[in-house]
Amino acid sequence: MTHNFSLTGKTILVTGGSSGIGRQTAVTLAKLGAKLIITGRNTEQLQETLSLLPENGHLSTSFDLVKTAQLPELVAGLPPLCGLAHCAGIWKPCPVKFLKEQALQNLMHLNFVAPVMLTAELLRQKKLLPGSSLVYISSVAAQHPYKGGSAYSASKAALEAFSKTLALEYAGKNIRANCIAPAMVKTPIFDDTLNTVSEQFMQAHVSAYPLRVGVPDDVAYAVAYLLSDASGWITGSVLRLDGGLTVGS
Ligand SMILES: NC(=O)c1ccc[n+]([C@@H]2O[C@H](COP(=O)([O-])OP(=O)(O)OC[C@H]3O[C@@H](n4cnc5c(N)ncnc54)[C@H](OP(=O)(O)O)[C@@H]3O)[C@@H](O)[C@H]2O)c1
Repeated sequence: MTHNFSLTGKTILVTGGSSGIGRQTAVTLAKLGAKLIITGRNTEQLQETLSLLPENGHLSTSFDLVKTAQLPELVAGLPPLCGLAHCAGIWKPCPVKFLKEQALQNLMHLNFVAPVMLTAELLRQKKLLPGSSLVYISSVAAQHPYKGGSAYSASKAALEAFSKTLALEYAGKNIRANCIAPAMVKTPIFDDTLNTVSEQFMQAHVSAYPLRVGVPDDVAYAVAYLLSDASGWITGSVLRLDGGLTVGS
C-alpha cells in the first residue's frame, strides 16, 4: 500500500551518505521505497552504505563537494530528482582568537557554499521535478551558539537563511526547502566532541537532555517526513530535534 509517508517512486540525492546521519538517512529513505544516489568522498564507506540498503538500483558516486567547479559535471550525470537530503558537513570548534582565514573558509565552503552551489546547479539543469523537497541538515547551534562554535554556528545560520529564501523563490514551482536542526547526535562528530571537551562537561551536557542524546535514526525519520508528500504544506521551516533540551543548554 502506498500512502503520503511513502517514498516509493521518488529518486533522492543524499550527500554525506558515507557516514553518520547521512548513512542512516540513506537506509531509512531506501526502506521507505526511495531510489537513491548517495555521495561522499570515501568510496569504501559509500559501498558499505550501499550494502545496507534494500535492493532498488541505488547508486553511489564519490565526490568532494568543495570542488564546486566540478558540480556541473556531477549534476549532469544525475537523473531527474524528487528530493535532496543534504547531510554532508564538518564541525571544527575553534575559539575566535585562534580562527585562521583558511580554516574558516574551508568550513564555510563545505557547510554553506557547497549546498548552495549544488542546489543552484540542480535548478539550472532542471533536475528537480515539480513537488521536489530539499532538506538541509543544520544544527541547533545556528540559533544557540556555544563557545568555540562561531564558525560552525555561522555556517549553519547561513544555511538556514538560504533555505528559507529558496523556499520563497520556488514555492510557485511546488519545490519545498526546509532545514532540520538537531542537537547532539551519536555519530563520528559526537566521538570527535568527546576528544575535544572534558568528560565533566560532556556528562553535564548529556544529562541536560530530558529524553536522551539523539541517534542517527531520530534525524533520518524527520528527513524522510520532510521528503514525503505528507509534509506538502511545510516549506521555509527549521525543524528542531533536541530530545527536549532546554534552549541554550
Ligand atoms: N552529530 C551531531 O551531533 C550533529 C548535530 C547537529 C548537526 N549535525 C550535522 O549533521 C550533518 C552530518 O553530521 P554527522 O554527525 O553525520 O557527521 P559524519 O558522520 O562525520 O558525516 C559527515 C559526512 O560529510 C561528508 N563530507 C565531509 N566532507 C566532505 C566533502 N568535502 N565532500 C563531500 N562530503 C563530505 C562525509 O563523507 P566523506 O568523509 O566520505 O567525504 C560524511 O559522510 C553535518 O552537517 C553536521 O553538521 C550533526
